Amino acid sequence: MLHGGQGTRLRPITHTGSKQLIKIAGKPVSRWMLEKIRDLGIEEFIIVLGENDPRSVIDYYGDGSALGVRIKYLYQGKARGIADAIYRCRGMVGENEFIVALGDNVLIDPIPARMVEAGNSVLLARVRDPSRFGVAVISEDRIVKMVEKPKEFISDLALVGIYKFSSEIFQEISKLRPSARGELEITEAIQGLIQDGFDVNYEVVGNWWKDTGTPEDLLEANMYLLDAYAQRYISGSIVDSEVLGRVYLGQGSRIINSKVIGPCFIGENTTVADSTVEPFCSIGDGASIERSNLSYSLVMDGARISRVSLTRSIIGKNVKLERAEGSEKGVNAVLGENSTVILR
Ligand code: G1P
Repeated sequence: MLHGGQGTRLRPITHTGSKQLIKIAGKPVSRWMLEKIRDLGIEEFIIVLGENDPRSVIDYYGDGSALGVRIKYLYQGKARGIADAIYRCRGMVGENEFIVALGDNVLIDPIPARMVEAGNSVLLARVRDPSRFGVAVISEDRIVKMVEKPKEFISDLALVGIYKFSSEIFQEISKLRPSARGELEITEAIQGLIQDGFDVNYEVVGNWWKDTGTPEDLLEANMYLLDAYAQRYISGSIVDSEVLGRVYLGQGSRIINSKVIGPCFIGENTTVADSTVEPFCSIGDGASIERSNLSYSLVMDGARISRVSLTRSIIGKNVKLERAEGSEKGVNAVLGENSTVILR
């Protein structure tokens, strides 16, 4: 599983951490993916680390035993592309077939079991904006061509960030030259396989998937995951409040004199007081929401929000966001770790 990349489009959130560790619907983005792969019966993982806070990735996943898998780590350093990351794993992978997953991709459906059958295969999804992705051209039920971020329309079937390879991919990668963005493109290596006469199987995912590269994508992923997986689970305490629908309330958290409408996730040791939390909010651990309204937003661990109306917002770890008495307007914001904002 690839855990690198700079997360430029998610700044400032990614100035201080790896984008794949951002928690949505209660779990880091990459953990949603790891668990889907584990559910295929796969137990051995290599996590390829980038430059952006690799230590916190190791701290979070450890040896994998908490998730019932075995995890080894490989340090890629500077982002040189998906194909480069895969090539660096060749010593650890040997002659085995393997799955590659991008840790920033979120999928709602299970990964089709056919993906683990012998040979090379890719997962595709129809998209409205194919120029953002690698795309595959299908003819007579076979992939005949693959192009990374085509400028001219050739297909609307995009490569979802899950691939299955056998060891001949390493030879194709060794022939690659860096693309215009300075990366070794896996899409070009797969095109090489096709040109050399190897079959590349494919599956089309019917349901939703997302490359969580931008704040809007993250919020949408959060919404879909809450919609699909949130369950009502109350461990914390509810005092003088209305808590409706699929609300997860972690240990030590308190909802006081408030209204919370699911689907929503509230982590551990968080307080929601004199507030309204509307659907599709994920709030981390140790946060505090006071005299505020929240909807469709992500609030990370330790954030403190007071007297603010927030929608479609991402509030980083330990952010302090408060409004002075008497000021009224709502807010739409992406705030990185440790920011303080006082609205007057
Ligand atoms: C990468 C791949 C692209 C694929 C996409 C899926 O793009 O290069 O082929 O469709 O992931 O998320 P990137 O996110 O590096 O632009």
